[in-house]
Amino acid sequence: MVGRVDPQGGQDAAAGAGGIVIRGSRLLLRALRPAEIDDEWRAMVTADPMAIATLPDEAGFRARLQQSGQMRDGWLDLAIDLDGASIGRIQTFVPPGRPIPPGTYEVGIGLRGDTRGKGYGREALALLTDWLFEHAAAQVVEAPTDPANIAMRTVFQRVGWTLVGPLTEFDRQWVMYKITRREWEARPRPFAQRQ
Ligand SMILES: CC(C)(COP(=O)(O)OP(=O)(O)OC[C@H]1O[C@@H](n2cnc3c(N)ncnc32)[C@H](O)[C@@H]1OP(=O)(O)O)[C@@H](O)C(=O)NCCC(=O)NCCS
Repeated sequence: MVGRVDPQGGQDAAAGAGGIVIRGSRLLLRALRPAEIDDEWRAMVTADPMAIATLPDEAGFRARLQQSGQMRDGWLDLAIDLDGASIGRIQTFVPPGRPIPPGTYEVGIGLRGDTRGKGYGREALALLTDWLFEHAAAQVVEAPTDPANIAMRTVFQRVGWTLVGPLTEFDRQWVMYKITRREWEARPRPFAQRQ
């Protein structure tokens, strides 16, 4: 096994203060701080429509982020921290109206504009993918993206995910990518969690 095993399977003992913490070579995935929730809502409201399926209910979104750092019924939100500041958010989510089997996690990610294109998306996705297989009994980790989202599609390829095929959801076309436990076990680990 690669990486650090925290108490409680990756959740810090002081879960209320910190929750799940995943350390990489440059990035730290951690719970959002209360002051960062406004930034996250602003990022949702101003997001390129290509990047989000639908704008969530604001109160529900804020309430969910208050619980960030905790995995709850397939939902997990983590800040992507670079040198002490959040540069975006990575999550697992449960798609409405599309049942997913136990052990399958759906992932989403968004970085602030000025931090894109520097390899952080690649590192964050690799870190969360590793954590889900190592600590959350994942069998499959998958994500849909817009067919025109070349940066996201490139990141999936770079971290060893494969193209599953097209998906129609929210009255739109998407492409689905995934990695299975077997594929994950066979791949190199460029962003192994720090010990
Ligand atoms: C998608 C996203 C998470 C990717 O993270 P990132 O840090 O920007 O990506 P990285 O720098 O790790 O890698 C991007 C790769 O795509 C390539 N790329 C980006 N745009 C490209 C384009 N238009 N054409 C060709 N290649 C492109 C980069 O060259 C890089 O490839 P490399 O690994 O060979 O260097 C980030 O750009 C983002 O937050 N975008 C807005 C929100 C979003 O679209 N989220 C995904 C919703 S499903």
